[in-house]
Amino acid sequence: MVKVEYVADLNEAGQRAFDLVKESVLNGARVLGLATGSSPIRLYELLAQSDLDLSQVISVNLDEYIGLESSHPQSYHYFMNEHLFSKKTLKASFLPDGMANEEKAVSEYERILKENPIDVQILGIGRNGHIGFNEPGTSFNSRTHKVALTQSTIDANTRFFENSDQVPKFAYTMGLENILEAKKIILIACGENKAKAIHGLVKGDITELVPASILQKHNDVIVLIDEAAGSLL
Ligand code: GLP
Repeated sequence: MVKVEYVADLNEAGQRAFDLVKESVLNGARVLGLATGSSPIRLYELLAQSDLDLSQVISVNLDEYIGLESSHPQSYHYFMNEHLFSKKTLKASFLPDGMANEEKAVSEYERILKENPIDVQILGIGRNGHIGFNEPGTSFNSRTHKVALTQSTIDANTRFFENSDQVPKFAYTMGLENILEAKKIILIACGENKAKAIHGLVKGDITELVPASILQKHNDVIVLIDEAAGSLL
C-alpha cells in the first residue's frame, strides 16, 4: 500500500523521514537502504547530528557510477561520505563497486544484499519515474545489474565534469526486485518537476514504463511529498 503524506518542503520531509527511520531503528531495524540525490540530504544531516546509535546498523546504497574511483567528487561513495559516513559511525556501509568488472560487482552486491536484508529503504525518484538507476523499461524482476545511463542523465551530469568524455556512461544499480524486498520504503519527492512521476507511482497503471509504479504492490510505502509534487493526484 502506498501512503501519501504531505510535507511543506524537503526540510520537513527530511525531518519526517528521520522520525520514521529513528522509530524503525529503535524497534530493531538493522539495515538501511540509502539513496543519493538532493532529496534525502536533510535526512542524512539529521542522522549525523542526532544521538541515535547507528553503530549496529549497516547501510547499503542503491547505485554507483561505473569507472569513478570512490575518491572522485562525483562518485556516490564520495557523496555518502560527505553527507553521512564521515560524520556518523555505522557498523558497515556498502555501495556497488564502480571499479570492479560487471560479474564481480553484481555477484558481490547480491551476496551483500542476501546477507543484509533491507529493513528500511530510502528512495528519491527521477522525473521519468526511475528509482535507483532503474530507467523506464527496466524489468520488474530485475536484480543488481549494469545500466547504460540515458542521454538525459549523461547531459545533466556533464556540468560536473571537465569534459563530456569523463562523464560516466554506465552505472551499477540494485534492481526493482531488490528494492521491493525492503520491509519498509520511504520515498521523498518535492517540486513540480516530480508531479508526473508521483502521479504514476501513486495512481498510474503498474507498468515497466514507470518503474516506481511497482511500489503499489508493496505493503508498506510512505511517500513524502509537497503540494507541487502532489499537484496531479
Ligand atoms: C538520480 C539517482 C536517483 C535519485 C534521482 C533524483 O537519478 N540515481 O537515486 O532518486 O537522481 O534525484 P534528486 O533527489 O536530486 O531529485
